[in-house]
Amino acid sequence: MNQKPAVLWFTGLSGAGKSTIANHLEKLLHDDGRHTILLDGDNIRHGLNSDLGFAEADRVENIRRIAEVAKLMTEAGLIVIVAFISPFRSARQFALDLMEPGELIEIFVDTPLEECIQRDPKGLYKRALSGELQNFTGIDSPYEAPERPELHLRTMVADPVHLAQEVETFLRGKFY
Ligand code: ADX
Repeated sequence: MNQKPAVLWFTGLSGAGKSTIANHLEKLLHDDGRHTILLDGDNIRHGLNSDLGFAEADRVENIRRIAEVAKLMTEAGLIVIVAFISPFRSARQFALDLMEPGELIEIFVDTPLEECIQRDPKGLYKRALSGELQNFTGIDSPYEAPERPELHLRTMVADPVHLAQEVETFLRGKFY
């Protein structure tokens, strides 16, 4: 495939911009002739993981399955882009330990909670704050930010296109 397989693991709050950046990145990589797959809530939580909710054990299982699928896809040679809140450090560590050394790149999409509440693209924060939705990350369920992410993307100081370019540049230096 003329590429080194990798897992680009985006983590961050709901509404932080993970999927938006991931989508831009996928376009950049395609333009560059790379073979990718994007795993996000749209294609995983509606299918493979449609039996899972948002209690802690379900989120851990969500990430475990995603990590196993990502692993299989690296074995097929793909660059796997993963975009889930993945709020628990231990679950992200599980994913890291599953891959070859250096293969998984943890990318923290850092948007302050107040900003995510402001953006509220799906109206879910409003529902969580009114008590209608339980176990919502950042409201009544924890988010454990990465301590040493390989890439730290601050969405308050750069737009999604530039942040996607930053990831692509990083990848180029490291893999090609
Ligand atoms: S994870 O915690 O298990 O990694 P995941 O990324 O799959 O979460 O799903 C998060 C998305 O599901 C959010 O962006 C939001 O649209 C939706 N969602 C629905 N209920 C919740 C909840 N209780 N907490 C967080 N996100 C929720």
